[in-house]
Amino acid sequence: MNKLSKFSRELSNYTEIEPEIHLSPATGYRARAEFGFSKNSYTMVKDDKKIYMEKSSIPHPSIQQLMPNLLSKIYNSEPMQKKLFQINFRTSGKKVLATLIYHKPLQEDWILAAKDIEASIENLSVIGRSKKQKVLIREENLEVICNYDNSSFKIMQNDLVFFQPNFYLYSLMISFIAKQLEDPKDLLELYCGCGGFTLPLASKFKKIFATENNRHSIRLLKESIKLNNLSNIETARLSDNETASALANERLFRRLENVDMQSYEFSHILVDPPRAGLSAETIYLSKQFKNMIYISCNPETFLRDIVEVDRKIESIGIFDQFANTGHLEIIAFLK
Ligand SMILES: C[S@@+](CC[C@H](N)C(=O)[O-])C[C@H]1O[C@@H](n2cnc3c(N)ncnc32)[C@H](O)[C@@H]1O
Repeated sequence: MNKLSKFSRELSNYTEIEPEIHLSPATGYRARAEFGFSKNSYTMVKDDKKIYMEKSSIPHPSIQQLMPNLLSKIYNSEPMQKKLFQINFRTSGKKVLATLIYHKPLQEDWILAAKDIEASIENLSVIGRSKKQKVLIREENLEVICNYDNSSFKIMQNDLVFFQPNFYLYSLMISFIAKQLEDPKDLLELYCGCGGFTLPLASKFKKIFATENNRHSIRLLKESIKLNNLSNIETARLSDNETASALANERLFRRLENVDMQSYEFSHILVDPPRAGLSAETIYLSKQFKNMIYISCNPETFLRDIVEVDRKIESIGIFDQFANTGHLEIIAFLK
């Protein structure tokens, strides 16, 4: 049984609602991709076997196209090649950020070689990382322009933050959420990352209060809020449990000094947790909200949590973010 039928069958134990299914192309879909580096090749592990390659068909074409060229430049440069063990890519659809990660401190010879590579490969920015060291040649941040329905917004990301991995399904996920919203007032968003959903939803809600525990994500989100001239989003670097404590007035946070929590009239809570799912505190917090939007990258913890949140499923979308793997992404509207 394939993963979609398996999940749909499990879901039928919880609801009669039929999920809306969105498939991905089988190749060229990944907006970010991570590879090992060994024997002058990109490597990945498949069925417990290490595969060596000079190119992969999974990443977006902007990444695919430069992979062999980058590899040959690394091969021809001793400082670039020595002790390199990982290469991570991200793309805006045009510009590509490549992070090269080393088991050695990076010196001047590496910087010179990296500058040469950047100058010779169009639309590439190179970042070097080793223990406690980051070397930027040109740009650290990547500006992605996301178009959905008739809207467009800019979103800043870099190699330290989460970003939606499927280049094609991301805008469909936003549209799915936007079209289901009923009577939106203010939104409380947890696990907001660098604003992948916060920014496009700003036009749908009166105000948004968004929290996340990664300081790089919050810094980038603040930049994107300015870049898009938005005035109805407030953010705070708070974990899920800290957000729950702050909203229950159990604890005062200096990070909330400038936020008037009393001014919010929340109609929705949106959560997009990591694979581990929701904490007990977040589940408790969610019960104070009439509407809940649960974005999940793990069907197992999703099905566990919807029992705990004790809500009716109004609609559900399944997004096959990783076509060649067992993973699925779910967005559920819970009343
Ligand atoms: C699946 S990502 C979603 C990010 C964002 N919604 C997006 O789509 O770009 C989960 C996010 O939760 C954050 N996170 C992980 N554990 C957390 C916690 N305990 N409290 C708050 N945020 C957490 C991660 O840093 C990450 O940005």
